[in-house]
Amino acid sequence: MAAAEGKAVYWLGKDTLRVSAALFAENRRRLCEGLRAKQGLQPKSLVLLQGGEQKQRYCTDTDVVFRQESFFHWTFGVTEADCYGAVDVDTCKAFLFIPKLPESYATWMGEIYPKEHFKEKYALEEVHYTCDIAEVLTNFKPSVLLTLRGVNTDSGSVTREASFEGISRFQVNNTFLHPVIVECRLLKTDMELEVLRYTNRISSEAHKEVMKHVSAGQKEYEMESLFRHYCYSQGGMRHTSYTCICGSGHNSSVLHYGHAGAPNDKTIQDGDMCLFDMGGEYYCYSSDITCSFPANGKFTPDQKAIYEAVLKSSRAVLAAIKPGVKWSDMHRLADRVHLEELIKVGILRGNLDDMMKVHLGSVFMPHGLGHLLGIDVHDVGGYPEGTERIDEPGLKSLRMGRVVQERMVLTVEPGIYFINHLLDKALASEQQSGFINNEVLARFRGSGGVRIEDDIAVTADGVELLTCVPRTVEEIEAFMADRNPEKSFSPTVSSEKF
Ligand code: GLY
Ligand code: MN
Ligand code: MN
Repeated sequence: MAAAEGKAVYWLGKDTLRVSAALFAENRRRLCEGLRAKQGLQPKSLVLLQGGEQKQRYCTDTDVVFRQESFFHWTFGVTEADCYGAVDVDTCKAFLFIPKLPESYATWMGEIYPKEHFKEKYALEEVHYTCDIAEVLTNFKPSVLLTLRGVNTDSGSVTREASFEGISRFQVNNTFLHPVIVECRLLKTDMELEVLRYTNRISSEAHKEVMKHVSAGQKEYEMESLFRHYCYSQGGMRHTSYTCICGSGHNSSVLHYGHAGAPNDKTIQDGDMCLFDMGGEYYCYSSDITCSFPANGKFTPDQKAIYEAVLKSSRAVLAAIKPGVKWSDMHRLADRVHLEELIKVGILRGNLDDMMKVHLGSVFMPHGLGHLLGIDVHDVGGYPEGTERIDEPGLKSLRMGRVVQERMVLTVEPGIYFINHLLDKALASEQQSGFINNEVLARFRGSGGVRIEDDIAVTADGVELLTCVPRTVEEIEAFMADRNPEKSFSPTVSSEKF
């Protein structure tokens, strides 16, 4: 094992995943190839990225746990803060610039490693100090520095462009790089898929651990804690990919529950549905999984009806996804199945096509069907320049407006929620109210919601399901009835063919 251990750029020991520096060399190679394929690139262009900064809590000297900036991570795989990196587009030669640490660092923070240590660790061609960046780049004589400026289409925020003292002496182009690197991040390499399989495996096991231990009387945050403990202790995942959402009962209809104003602090009750949306992150690669199940392990007929409606749409979408399909059509497919099933339950009545015309699906699923997943949980590239969001309820929240392509990694996360203000709005709407049977609906109000969220990799003719948790009502009930953590679970869903 010694040779393999030596080769891994990242490995946290035990059964955690070994990741090779080759993953990032391949990313850089793809980036250079993509840049060279674009018209207007001058020879001796140099990509220049600035890594994430170590931050402190407000005005204090307490460090916030560092997590690398995502573009920088994708390009270099460097875990340390306050670095810069450069790539020569002609040759793919990579430069890393690390901070020159003061002697006091050795007292407070530990060993100060020499530049050679990072050169070897990250398998990069050159390592220098950040204080020498202007001099090193002057010697290199780039025709242009390609810096990163672009909008994240989910947040609307703009990337932080690299800057250093003396940059004004160089020719800089800040528009060329962003669309190309985003297209590279859109499609995952085999080595990236391997990491995403791992984040999904560990996070799936952590969800199962939670299902094995949930019971009425516990706090929602105990479930968050259990998930995080499993991910970190068994998978080396120090970070989660996003704030854990552990809604029970009515809280399961709060789409992004778990934030500081609603911090997973309700006591779980017998009869509650739980909606737990949690994903672990390993070496900056994400996962994003939602499990919905009854806290007591047994579905009521109404809970089962809603759960199975969502499962039906989830499986219909998984069966339909392949390269070439429009993601917005997958969203519409989920809406259609939900409406069909809500008619069967008796909450809705009338003609399905007419319901689709007035966007009734968005009353029950106001969010998008799913999104790209990678280094960011809502990964970049959902809307390339020139692609607009569809301005319709529900669809306007879709984070990807593209046609599905092989090697995309996506979440599929349909849901049905009973959100009082949306239901009241629909009942007050001339177009929508006629479809709703208010008496039946009243039975479901306050019950929360169901989301089933799986992560998938798109293959040449379908999908690979990365998530592996109990999914059918029978699987969930059997799994939760048998609450012996020693026994392992082999879900039949993992062998489903889509
Ligand atoms: N957990 C956030 C999402 O599902 O997109
Ligand atoms: Mn999620
Ligand atoms: Mn998601």
